[in-house]
Amino acid sequence: MGKYDTYVEQCTAHFKALLEEQLEREDRMEADDEKKDFANLDHIVIGFCGGDGIGPVITAESRRLVEFLLKDDIASGKVELKDIDGLTIENRLAVGKAIPDDVLAELKTCDVIMKGPTTTPTGGTMESANVAMRRELDLYANVRPTKVPSEDIDWIFFRENTEGEYVLGSKGVEVPDKLAFDFKVTTKAGTERICRAAFEYAKNNGKDYVAIVTKANIMKKTDGNFTKIAHEVAKDYPDIKAEDWFIDIMTANLVNPARRSQFQVFVMPNLYGDIITDEAAQIQGGVGTAGSGNLGDKYCMFEAIHGSAPRMIEEGRGKYANPCSMFKASEMMLRHIGYIEKADKLAKALEICNDTERKYVITGRDGGATCEEFGNYVMETVSSL
Ligand code: IPM
Ligand code: MG
Repeated sequence: MGKYDTYVEQCTAHFKALLEEQLEREDRMEADDEKKDFANLDHIVIGFCGGDGIGPVITAESRRLVEFLLKDDIASGKVELKDIDGLTIENRLAVGKAIPDDVLAELKTCDVIMKGPTTTPTGGTMESANVAMRRELDLYANVRPTKVPSEDIDWIFFRENTEGEYVLGSKGVEVPDKLAFDFKVTTKAGTERICRAAFEYAKNNGKDYVAIVTKANIMKKTDGNFTKIAHEVAKDYPDIKAEDWFIDIMTANLVNPARRSQFQVFVMPNLYGDIITDEAAQIQGGVGTAGSGNLGDKYCMFEAIHGSAPRMIEEGRGKYANPCSMFKASEMMLRHIGYIEKADKLAKALEICNDTERKYVITGRDGGATCEEFGNYVMETVSSL
C-alpha cells in the first residue's frame, strides 16, 4: 500500500460519481427542448426575492418601479407580482442549504424573478445561493450589457452560467496539506445553447461580430471544445464574423481605446465571464451601474451584479443604497417579457437621472439621495417622457 492509497481510492470514487452525474446532466440537456415564449405569455408571475445586506432595500425599490410601470396589466390580472421571503444567509445556514426547499418551491411558481444580492460564505461547503439558483432553474445564459456612448462602447456579454468552473465548484477534492483539485466541465449541449443564444442575439439585433473568449491554448479540453462548438454554431450565421480571443488579451483590450469599440457580442465560459463582466461594469461606471439577466428556457432571473454590501447595513447606511443595478435589471426584465416600449422609457429615464440631469445623486451616505428618493425621481422622470 502506498501512503496515499486511501486518498487515491476515495478521490477516484468521487470522480466516478461526478462523471456519471455530469453525463446524465448532459443527456437531460440534449433531450429537453421545451421553451417558454416569455414575451408572449397570457399570464406572467414576477417574483421579488430580496436576499441579504442591501438586497431587500434595492429589491423593494425595483418592485415599486415595476409595479408603477405595469400598473394597468397588474390591475387586469395579466401580471402578478409576488414577494418571496426567506432567501437569507441566516435561513440558508440554519437549514444547511444554498436555497431552502420552501423558497425554491416558491421561486418555481414564478416565470421571472428579480433577485437582490445574496451573501456567499468563503470556504466551507455552503454553495452560493446565486449559483444554486442558476443551476436549479437552469438559467444558462448570463447576459450582461455594457454601454458607454461617449466612448462608443456597446457590448453585450453572453457568459455561460451553469457549468464550466462553477458546476462542480463546491465538489473538488483535497489531500490535506498536500494538494487540492477542482473540476471544470464543458458539455456539448451546454456550450451549444449559450453559443446559440449569443449568435441569435447578434442576428436579431443587427450585430455582425461575435468574439469567442477562452484560454483554449492552455485549457485544451474544456475551452478547446467550447471554441470548437462555438464555431460549429457560427456556421448557421454566415453573416456574422466569429473570432477567437484569449481571455488575457481580451481583458487588456477592454481598456484599450484603440480597439475596444470594435467589439459587440462576447461569448465565453463561466469564470472568464464572471471576471470580465466586472471589468466591463467598472468601465461603465462601477458594478453598481450594471444589471444582469440569467436566462433559461423555463425561468429567468434578473439581478444586480454586485454583492450584498453588508457593511452598509452594519453602518446604518442601508437606506442610501443605490438601486440602479436593480433598475437596469428591471429594464432587462421588462424587455425580455415583451414590454419593449416601457423598457426603452426606463432606459431613457435612467440616462437622464444618472448622466444628464442628476437632480438627485446617490452617494451611499448621509447627504446623498436615499434609495427611495432616487426611485421616486426615476418614476417621475419616466412619467415626463
Ligand atoms: C456574479 C457574482 C457571482 C458569480 C457570485 C456572487 C457567486 O460574482 O454574479 O458575477 O460568481 O457568478
Ligand atoms: Mg461576478
